[in-house]
Amino acid sequence: MHRVIAPMRPLLAVLVLTAAACGGAEKTPAVALTFNEEAWAPPTEKDIPNDSLGASIKRGLYLLRFTPESLPKYATSSLRCTSCHQNDGLKKSAAPLTGSHARFPKYMPRSGAVISLGDRVNYCFTRSLAGNAIPVGSREMTDILAYLAFISKDVPVGAHTAGTDGLIAMKDTLVGDVARGEKLFTEKTCITCHGAEGKGNGPIPALWGPTSYSIGASMAREERAASFIVHNMPQMAPGTLTPQEAFDLSAFINSHPRPDSPGKEGDWPMGGAPKDVPYNTNGHDAHRPPPSVFPKANPAGSLWPNPASIAHPAATAKGAK
Ligand code: HEC
Ligand code: HEC
Repeated sequence: MHRVIAPMRPLLAVLVLTAAACGGAEKTPAVALTFNEEAWAPPTEKDIPNDSLGASIKRGLYLLRFTPESLPKYATSSLRCTSCHQNDGLKKSAAPLTGSHARFPKYMPRSGAVISLGDRVNYCFTRSLAGNAIPVGSREMTDILAYLAFISKDVPVGAHTAGTDGLIAMKDTLVGDVARGEKLFTEKTCITCHGAEGKGNGPIPALWGPTSYSIGASMAREERAASFIVHNMPQMAPGTLTPQEAFDLSAFINSHPRPDSPGKEGDWPMGGAPKDVPYNTNGHDAHRPPPSVFPKANPAGSLWPNPASIAHPAATAKGAK
């Protein structure tokens, strides 16, 4: 045995050296420059193949659309994934999920750790849906990941696409006015769909109260919700509000009680929380916290702990999420 393997070693070393030399000589063009997002269209439901993988993709899509109906133990609020990730996760202004499969694993400043796409899905289950984490190896998680991979078709790993930074950034010098927001809530017809109590109705999700998103959701941040609102609401006339009106509405909506998010104090463990985070974190004072929060029925299930940090010295306050 030894005789066979021993002569191979020098050969392997030569191969490694050659590869290193090639890597040094050629310049690899940045992937982001070669991907033309404008010319790319994500596949849609009609493109789902009629095979086993297609069945999984389709189940994943339906879990996004009918989350509380399909997973009542886990999705306990009035929200479904598509309440925010509109149009099956394809809408560019509504935190698109297209390309997400090519963006993970990644370092998430809020977690202070490198997280998988499954972890990211569970952050939305526990925080945005104010529900419980689904088991990572479950049929349902695999189906959701199959759908996310499907709508990421042909997006190269590392490409910068519309969803890379979540919701479109707003001018962060704007500040909402709660009293103005309350008036606009009626004037701009939000009240007709979401209701005077913000409770929603059927497929119309709650904006506050025990069945809305939790305080640990991105949507609980004034600037993030303002971005969603200015681009996507009111549902039948998006684009009709000014950025200031969207901040006012966001401030009003987020001035109400909503579900708690256990473990939120551990967010941004390296510091650098964005200024509109409504709870205290390392080196950050809560921005306009809601007057109270509803305790979670299952605090353990609704906490998706941050993975162990790789504690890179450069991983400080970079990035906003
Ligand atoms: C209350 C609104 C809301 C709901 C409901 C919601 N999300 Fe999200 N999700 C967001 C926002 C906002 C972001 C982007 C973060 C940001 O912009 O700060 C995001 C980010 C994500 C990402 C990361 C995308 C990327 O490429 O970085 C995934 C994956 C995701 N959500 C999946 C889901 C799934 C699956 C569900 C349903 C179980 C869900 N979300 C429900 C608001 C929501
Ligand atoms: C015609 C009915 C309708 C009107 C009017 C409307 N919405 Fe919505 N809203 C929806 C629906 C439906 C969704 C869920 C997204 C979807 O299914 O496309 C939603 C989602 C939302 C969300 C994200 C999910 C959540 O629960 O937080 C916010 C925030 C929101 N609306 C705020 C507003 C504001 C502010 C106004 C007024 C400017 C408004 N909406 C007007 C129907 C409406």
